[in-house]
Parts: sequence; C-alpha cells; structure tokens
Amino acid sequence: KIPLLIDTDPGVDDALALLMAFNSPAHEVVGLTIAAGNVGLAHTVRNALKLCEVAGRADVPVFPGCGGPLVHAPREDAAHVHGRDGFGDVGYPDPAARPAAEHAALAILRLSHEHAGRLVLVALGPLTNLALALRLDPTLPQRLARLVVMGGAVSAHGNITPVAEFNVGFDPEAAHVVFSGFPRLDLADWEATLAHGLHMRRVEQWLAADSPRARFYEAISRRTRHWSEDRRGEHWHSADALAMAWALEPEGALELAERPVAVETEGRLARGLTAVDWNRQTGAPDNARILLRYDQARFEARIQAALAAA
Ligand code: BDR
Ligand code: CA
Repeated sequence: KIPLLIDTDPGVDDALALLMAFNSPAHEVVGLTIAAGNVGLAHTVRNALKLCEVAGRADVPVFPGCGGPLVHAPREDAAHVHGRDGFGDVGYPDPAARPAAEHAALAILRLSHEHAGRLVLVALGPLTNLALALRLDPTLPQRLARLVVMGGAVSAHGNITPVAEFNVGFDPEAAHVVFSGFPRLDLADWEATLAHGLHMRRVEQWLAADSPRARFYEAISRRTRHWSEDRRGEHWHSADALAMAWALEPEGALELAERPVAVETEGRLARGLTAVDWNRQTGAPDNARILLRYDQARFEARIQAALAAA
C-alpha cells in the first residue's frame, strides 16, 4: 500500500478528503498532522480525532502542530463557512482518543524517514507545519514520492482577498517557504475547485446513504452547504476533496500545466498571491504541476464511495 500522510485543518471539506483517503484500498494513512486554519488548533485536533472515530480509524495517530501562522497573525479564520467549531456546530460529543505527543513538524520528518521514497504527503490546510519541517530539515523533499497541495489561486481569483486563497493567505510566509523549498509540488488550487463543482442534488443523494459516515457528514456539512447555496447557487465546491482525488488517483488528471509559482508575502493588495509565471518571464524552473482538469466522474465516484462505506 502507498503510505499517505495528511496535513490538515478540519474543516468540512478536509473531512470529506479524509473519508476518501480512509476508503482507498491502495493507500495506508500513516498519520494526520494538524494545523490551525479554518478554526483554532484545539478544534482542528478534536475534529480530526472525531473524524477518525466515525470512520472506525481511531488507530491513526493525530499529531497537533502549529497553533497559528509562522510570522503574522491571520486576517481571519473560516468559522463563518465551517462553523465556530469547524464541523458545523452540531454538537457532536468529544472523541474518546487523545492526540499524539509528538509535534506535527517532527512527525512529518520522522515518517518521511520511515517511508522514504514512498510517502505521499497531502497538504489541505495552511502550510505552517510543513514549512517548519522543511526549515528543520531541507532534505525532506528528497524523501517524498509526491507532495500534493490544496492552495492558491493560479489566475489570482482569490477567495479571502481579491487575489489570495485561504490556505496560502492564512500563512503566506509558510507557503513561501514550501513553494521555494520544494523543487516540485502538485498544486490543486481554488480555481480548479471552482471548475469541478458538485451538483447539490447529487450531493444530497450521496448524503442520504445508509451509513454512519454519510449521516455524520450530512450533519457537519449542512451549514456550509446552505452557506454555499446562498452564494454560489446549485453547485457545491470541495477544495480538499478534489486535491485528495488527485493524490489518490493521479491518472484522473486530464490537463496539467507546469510552471514556476512563487508566493507574494508583502504588498498592500497582493499578500498571499500565488504568482504563476504563465509566460515564463522569470527563467525560474518549473516547481509546480498545476491541476487544470480532473476526470469529474472519477472525482464524484470517490466521494460517493467514501460516504457510502460502512
Ligand atoms: C481551502 O480553505 C479552507 O477553508 C478549506 O478547508 C480548503 O482547504 C480552500 O480555499
Ligand atoms: Ca482545509
């Protein structure tokens, strides 16, 4: 099985991505490293543990990481989308399991040694833990088979500022460390997310499946589905689920572009921008493979199967 390590800030779309990972027979989830992002770290850790419990995977270790960005306080969290507790404020009881004692950044490094050359790392939140790990050990990229990042907005159509996407905009310094420190990463950005909408009627059908996972996910996603319906109409968008689909099944990618991508950390308007050198002006090496189009049928089949799983 392919070892999979997921850095995440659950989060409603993170939760769907985690269910997809747990449901993949070809992959073994070796740990979850947790960042602050959508909501604070106490909530994201609790949510990760809760999700593992619901999926019957309380054996997967959950490593708490950084409680905020590397340098500057964040502009805002995403509680207005994901709920104050990050899981739709539906009042699920606390999970029974406890988080691991090891820090997320150290766990990333240790697991990269234990699974050297094979580990696939999927980053679904602000890149704080990963940046820290990379600063501790710049040779980390050499031991990963692949890094898949959900983040950025490759044509500068942001979702928290006019130009910045949430994960990069929450901690631009960390994103800069990762984008400049990894010779190559796979980028599933916010604009790819928008191009792979899920029809609300179909989502509701999947959520009606007779399984504990579907019931749980129906409850925690209710609030964000309504929020999204009010703003974006009949399609729902699940950024982290799309990144996970690509991580689990690379063959589903139908169109990719390789370009240099850098992160802007300053500026009055552009902090958190992922600047893609589309016209190759800089001469910088291509460091990102950008997902432009993914097989929608495969994407949806993975979501449906993950929710229906017993
Ligand atoms: C990203 O921001 C978060 O709110 C989501 O969980 C996703 O990772 C989308 O911009
Ligand atoms: Ca996320």
